Order: sequence, then structure tokens, then C-alpha cells
Amino acid sequence: MRLLSGADNFSLHADDSIGLDSLVLSDGPTGVRGEIVVGGRESCLLPNASLLAQTWNRDALTEAGQILAEEAEAQRTHVVLGPTINLHRSPLGGRLFEAFSEDPLLTGHLASSYITALQARGIGASAKHFLGNESETERTTVDIQMTAKTLREVYLAPFEIAVTDSNPWTVMAAYNSVNGVPSTEHHELITRVLKDEWGYDGVVMSDWYATKTVVESAAAGLDLVMPGPATPWTATLLEEVRAGTVSEEDIDDHVRRLLLLAQRVGGLAISRSWPEGIAAPASETRREQLRRLAASGMVVLKNVDETLPLHEDASYALIGRHATDTIGQGGGSAQVRAPHVVSIVDGLTSRLGAEHVAFTDGVETRKTLPTVRPALVRDPETGEHGIRVRIFDDAGELLHSRHLEVAELEDSQIGWLEGAARIELSATIDVREGRMVQLGTRGPGNWRLVTDGHDGSYRVDYHPGPGGGFFRPKSHATAVRVEPGQLVTASVEREEMPRILGLVVSEAVRSSASAISGASAAARTVDVAIVVVGFTPDQETEGEDKTTLSLPGDQDALVAAVANVARRTVVVVNAATPVLMPWLDDVEAVLFTGLPGQEAGDAVAAALLGDVLPEGRLVTTFPGGNHRGPAWSTTPRRGALEYAEGTSLGHRGWFESGEKPAFWFGHGLGLTTWEYSDAQIARSPDGRIDAVEVSVRNSGEHAGRETVQIYFDPEGDEPIRLIGWGQSDAMPGERVRVHVACDHRMQRSWDQDADAWIPLQTGTILIGRGLGDVRVTIP
Ligand code: BGC
Repeated sequence: MRLLSGADNFSLHADDSIGLDSLVLSDGPTGVRGEIVVGGRESCLLPNASLLAQTWNRDALTEAGQILAEEAEAQRTHVVLGPTINLHRSPLGGRLFEAFSEDPLLTGHLASSYITALQARGIGASAKHFLGNESETERTTVDIQMTAKTLREVYLAPFEIAVTDSNPWTVMAAYNSVNGVPSTEHHELITRVLKDEWGYDGVVMSDWYATKTVVESAAAGLDLVMPGPATPWTATLLEEVRAGTVSEEDIDDHVRRLLLLAQRVGGLAISRSWPEGIAAPASETRREQLRRLAASGMVVLKNVDETLPLHEDASYALIGRHATDTIGQGGGSAQVRAPHVVSIVDGLTSRLGAEHVAFTDGVETRKTLPTVRPALVRDPETGEHGIRVRIFDDAGELLHSRHLEVAELEDSQIGWLEGAARIELSATIDVREGRMVQLGTRGPGNWRLVTDGHDGSYRVDYHPGPGGGFFRPKSHATAVRVEPGQLVTASVEREEMPRILGLVVSEAVRSSASAISGASAAARTVDVAIVVVGFTPDQETEGEDKTTLSLPGDQDALVAAVANVARRTVVVVNAATPVLMPWLDDVEAVLFTGLPGQEAGDAVAAALLGDVLPEGRLVTTFPGGNHRGPAWSTTPRRGALEYAEGTSLGHRGWFESGEKPAFWFGHGLGLTTWEYSDAQIARSPDGRIDAVEVSVRNSGEHAGRETVQIYFDPEGDEPIRLIGWGQSDAMPGERVRVHVACDHRMQRSWDQDADAWIPLQTGTILIGRGLGDVRVTIP
């Protein structure tokens, strides 16, 4: 019974009597974070999931899975909590950056490559969150309502593909309910569909703190309750078994699955030996891999007059806050401590030379200021980069003092904070010359901030909602002038709730008017202005949904002003999810970069120059305005969120409505152009499509990789859907034949009355580059 609850936050119980090791789990899915959210071990920060998915390339996902497996080995971790295979339903979903796409087929296939690669090295994957966790508002309580048809054809589909094709050794049950039943208690989903129908033999674990019951969850098929040590099951599961309300067979089944997991990951009978000499996160090998993976998923949304690729000998004005504060990852449990995040200004300057790139800061974008980068502060005692943390007891006695390599800490997980009544963070500021900055702290609590000429006390509140001190800690800062080497001391009283605490040293706030006039002046004097815009980590985060797709702050005004005066304008969008672009007609090129991970700036430079071909295709439809598209609101009504668009989510719904989005799912120009011809179809005896072959010719000036997409529009009321895709590389002028296997699982419809699948045999086949650029139609 003990084995069926976690031993602590991220490990499971050992049992020497049966040779069972303590299995270690780690988030996932974009890096192997380890046990604590901030300040843990440095580890590789991969491109975010939707950027990886934008490659539409199974090999890229295989490579990502291999890197994660090695990272897990380096950290002696048995299970990585990923991939996230919920779908991009509404573009407002806060956690879309962590999930692959709006399409069940694309998501299922890419997830399978990731899972297969991870598990090939004996590291378990966890397909999450089962089921219906497409948005974050009221995520722990919301009841997701959908028809059985929608459930089967859309939201179960990526899990079915992943389970059938790659058998993830664990699956994580979601926080939300589905049609009135909490996911952790969902017998129909966990036992009837996943385990019995699909033959799943792995472990179903709960999301963290999601399990609220004992009898219902244990009997539904949930195998493992996380985290431990105290869970509803440790309290009364044994009594329930004795009372006969939970059967011994159910418990045996949970234990058998757990032992099978242990055996699979090398934690039973013979402990696995962990390899040495794995490439370090900042090694050249990793840097090359992560730069290439990120750049190849970037999407060229617009490119007129051959503006891209950029030329080496031109002059550039690089503009915008995201050029220096480049966002490499989204917020929440997926966060990892990267060895570095290369900014776009550093990436482009090192690629083109400082004489070609002049940087100008843009408008303010963030509501919550981030923790200062360690390179900008030093420990006052040792002079090393980072900060000093001292803790004091009730009587004001110093209990402990230590150096931290980062400027933040998590005050719930750390043993040496035991007994603290007050925590003090101190640092000297490493600026080259005196200047105005925003100085303050991050994280909730009663703070006092002291530096030369400033002594202030204030309270920062918890962000409303679960995990509010943790995933989205608020910040407080004041405009202060600092000199090189100036000491800053911030202290905060100890509180019960888990939270993140950090020091903030940020750019002084400027008015948008002065930022925009500075940017316009810079843009006038060069060949090309490159404006970098994006969302902030407050917007693309676990725990909260966006409310608008508009860029924060006055970024739209900044782009418009630059485009008005520049000879040519390239906009680089550093965001993972759809963004509104009111200035689109006025700029020459747009590169959508996603959240590119630790090598961000080098990857953006490589994509802009064409060193790595930016052959990404969108994985989500971009609406032209707010409130558009088949699914918009993520706000539950009286606790329930209805998936009223049914099976017509994303491009399927847009196609049905006849309305044109700003950019279709599947859109991406790359750097060259393509011609299609000679399509052929192979069908199976029941009429379903097995494969499509088509010739594509690279008709442009640059090498390229074409992603041929096959859509099927069934006769009758069923929505159009992607049934397969294939890729091929070709040099200018080269013609290649592309073979695309088409998945039968996307060519069937769920008959709710019969509780059975019916094959979809007749309809139209559309071959092309997204539904906005169909090249061949076969009735
Ligand atoms: C997230 C999971 C994550 C878990 C452990 C939860 O808040 O929803 O995706 O794996 O925390 O950190």
C-alpha cells in the first residue's frame, strides 16, 4: 500500500526486501528540471514543445527525446514527466507552449517519436494530462464537457496514438473533471478505454495533489498518487481494503504495474548503472543540437521582396525589449535552470559583427519583473556571480549563510531553511557605470529593501489561485540610482505557503513615446530594421490563461512606427502561441520563433541568415482578431467548460465556417517556393486511404524542406482533417517524390449509439501547404 503513494515530491518509495529502488521523477517536458523549480541543477533547456512540433519532423522529436534521456541519466532520474499531449483548443490556453498542436494526428505522432526515443534508453515517459486539460482557468476544479464523439475522435486520439504506437510507461491523470467525473476517478477513461480497450499496461499517476478520494480513485484504475509522503491513500486506503470497499485485486493490479515500471526503468532487482561522460548542458554538442532544433522549427510567416534570408553585408537596427530579454521558455512546472539563454542581440551580433548591428531598446512589455540574471549581481562575501542568502531565527540569530549561483530560491523545498524566521538575499550590483534601474524583489511576503539612499518596506501578495506564490510570483520594484558595486539587501519574513523569492534589477522604465521615437530614429538610418516582439512569461504560463492575443504594452505601436520609416522591416515574434499582427501589411517579413530554449539568440540568427533553414509550419491556426475561431473562451460557467465546437476545433472549424484566419495551421513559407504535380493515391480494400504520393519541385533560389500535408474532407457532416504528412529536402530546381502514409485512425467516425467506430470511406482529398494553400484536390 505504501508503494502506491509518492515518498516525497518527486520520488517513490524503495523496498529493500524486494530489491526495489526509489524511483526518481522529474518534470518535463522541455528539459529535465530535477526536484526544485528554481535554483536546481543546470540542465538543457530545449526549444518549447510547440516549436519542436513546428518542425513537423519525427526525427527532431526523436533527437529531443534522446537528449532528454541523457539529461535524465545525468541526473539519475527514472521518469520524465512529459510529453504534454493536450491539444491547442483555444489560443488563449496558458499552457499551449508545453503542448504540441491543435491537431490530434500531428500531436500523437510527434509524441510517439519523443516517447520511443526516451524509453529506448530506459527512461520512462509520462503522457499527460489525461484528459481535457486544454486550458488553465479553474484547472483544478473545472468540469470539461464534451460528447462521446468529440472525446473519442479528438481528445482521446493523441493518447490513443501514443499508447498504441509507443506505450508510454506512465500516464498522468489531469486535475479537471470530464463530463462530471474527476480525471483521477474516471473509471470509464482510465480502466475501460485506456487499460482494457487499448491494452495499456503502464502506471496511471495523478497530477500533483489532484487526488481527492480513496475508494473512487483506487477503483477507477488510478495506480499512483502524487506527491507524497501524505496522500489521501496513505491515510485510509488500507482500512478501505480491510472493509472490502476497495478490492485486493485492484491493489494487486496497481502494485504489479508499479513493479513493471520499476523493472522497465532499471529499479527492480538490479539497480541500473548510470553512464558517465554525458554531454554537459553547455557543451558544444548540445549547443549545436539545440540551436539546430530551434531554428529549424521557426516559421517564416511572411517574406516579400526576398527580405529573408538576411545578407551579411547590410546594416541593421535591432529593436525591442525581447532582443535583450529573450524568452527561452514558458512559466510553471516545465521551467528548467538553463546554463544560459543566448539573447537575440548577442546571437545576431556575434553572427554579423557589431559593426552591422545597432541595438535600440523598445517599449516596456512586462507586468511582473523577472529575477535578475546572475551575471549582473555578485555575492558580497565571495565576489562570485549570484547572491548571498542568510537566514535568521526568531531571536535574530544567524542560523545559516550560503552562496547561490542564481538570484532566487524556493523556500518550501530546501532543508537548510529549517527554523528560519527571516530570509535575507543580498548582492552587490555589477554595472559598469552608475545608472537608474528598477530595484526590488520577486515573490510574495513582507519585504524590506535597503540600499544606499533607499530603505523601503512593502508587502507583495500571492497571485490569486493555486500555486500563486510559486508559478507566477509577483514582483515589486522602485526606481533607484545604483553605482558599480553598490550593496542591496532584501529580507522577507518566513511564511507557510510555498513560494519563490528573488532579487530584481531591471531596466529603468521609459515612456513608450521616448522608446518609439528612439527606435524610429534608429530605423531610418539602416538597410533593415528588425523589431523583436513577444509575449511575456506572465502570459505563456501554467496556471493562467491569456485574455487577449494582442502583444502586451505598446509593442504594436512600436512596430507600426518603425515600419513607417524603415526601408525594410523584419518582425521577429518571440512567442509560442498566436499573436495578433495589426501591422502585418506594413512589414516585409515575419519570423515566428516560438520559445527557442537556451540557444535562442543564436537560433534566431541562424534562421534569419538561412544558416539553418527555418522550415517550420504552424501547429495552430492564427486568428486575425480576438474572439474569432471555433473555440475562444476558456472561462468556465458555473464550474463547467463546454467544448461546444465538438470535433471542429482549430483549422477544421475555420474551414467549415468559410472565414479566413490570419495564418492557417500548416502555413510556413521557408525560404523557397514549390510546385506540385502527379499525385497518386493508394487505398485499402475498405476504401480508406493508405498513402498519397506526389512530386514536388523546388522552384525557388534556396534549398528547402517541403512538408506535404494531406487533408481529407469526408462526405456528409464530418469535418475536414489532417490524415498524414511527409517531408523531403530538395535543392533549387530539384524534383522529388514524397510518399505520405495516411493514418486510418483519422478516417473513422465514432457512432455514439453503437459505441463503435465506422470507417469514413468517401470524400475529397486536399494536398498542400495548409488549407490556405491547397495545390491538388482529388474528389
Ligand atoms: C503540473 C504537471 C507537473 C506536476 C509536477 C503540476 O502542476 O500540472 O504537469 O508534472 O505539477 O510538477
